[in-house]
Amino acid sequence: MEMRSTVTRPLHGYHPPHLRTSLLLALFLGVWYSQALEMITGKIPYLEAVNGSTVLLPCKYASCVGIEDLYFRWSFNDTDPSNKLCDGKIKDEHTEPKTTVYKDRVEFVGSTVDQNVSVLLWNITFEDGGVYTCYGKNLKEKGRNHNATFTLVVVDQLKVVDNTLTLIIASCVGGAIGLLMCYVLLKNFTLWMIAKMEERNKECLVTSSGIDNTENGLSGSKSTPKVTPKKA
Ligand SMILES: *[C@@H]1O[C@H](CO)[C@@H](O)[C@H](O)[C@H]1NC(C)=O
Ligand SMILES: *[C@@H]1O[C@H](CO)[C@@H](O)[C@H](O)[C@H]1NC(C)=O
Ligand SMILES: *[C@@H]1O[C@H](CO)[C@@H](O)[C@H](O)[C@H]1NC(C)=O
Ligand SMILES: *[C@@H]1O[C@H](CO)[C@@H](O)[C@H](O)[C@H]1NC(C)=O
Ligand SMILES: *[C@@H]1O[C@H](CO)[C@@H](O)[C@H](O)[C@H]1NC(C)=O
Repeated sequence: MEMRSTVTRPLHGYHPPHLRTSLLLALFLGVWYSQALEMITGKIPYLEAVNGSTVLLPCKYASCVGIEDLYFRWSFNDTDPSNKLCDGKIKDEHTEPKTTVYKDRVEFVGSTVDQNVSVLLWNITFEDGGVYTCYGKNLKEKGRNHNATFTLVVVDQLKVVDNTLTLIIASCVGGAIGLLMCYVLLKNFTLWMIAKMEERNKECLVTSSGIDNTENGLSGSKSTPKVTPKKA
């Protein structure tokens, strides 16, 4: 802890010029966003869930320069900012967030340790379907903010896809692929065998032709006898 604070303070003093130049540079290079605060709701920010179930609204934050008084907020159908589910503040990397929950059935389950500000939404109803926004604002990055959305679709029951046809197609395709592979393997093996045999034959031919060459060299060209001593 103490080591860290002594390290971050000089860095902190360095930030303004460093930030300004890197911002300018990054604006040209277009890489600034990889350094700034980011809120992440996952690779597939979409979930279909049955009414009455409990869902996790996932959100993580990331910032290369670290956080300080990070404010975060979960809201629903963002058109109305009062549709807050939950918000909170995280003082620094070592402090657990102070959170306020504004809606029944919402439970904060995040933690600073894994930079997680996810919430659980208990016993969902059809009215819960919509777009959830995870918003973050980092004081350490001069109030830079970012948000990510997560779409929840509430369904009566999860669609049971009739897999029979898929299975048939899959096994047909699988069988075909298997046959093809057998064929390819067999073909390759045969080709390999032929190649091996040819190689052997070639070896025989080469050695015999080598002898032939020396014999020829004796009778004619000068280049061939030069080659054969090298081989030996
Ligand atoms: C989901 O909604 C359907 C239709 O409104 C209802 O019949 C069913 O009981 C609900 N399921 C749960 C788990 O609440
Ligand atoms: C969710 O529903 C169950 C059963 O209906 C109930 O026991 C539980 O208290 C509910 N949880 C919340 C957070 O509303
Ligand atoms: C956030 O924390 C919750 C509760 O521990 C966990 O279920 C969830 O997987 C975490 N989310 C991510 C993105 O790590
Ligand atoms: C939230 O938005 C979705 C579509 O984005 C809409 O279908 C739903 O009715 C909205 N819910 C509320 C409570 O405004
Ligand atoms: C979320 O970010 C987009 C741009 O990425 C911005 O247009 C929008 O206003 C932001 N929403 C909030 C609530 O800050």
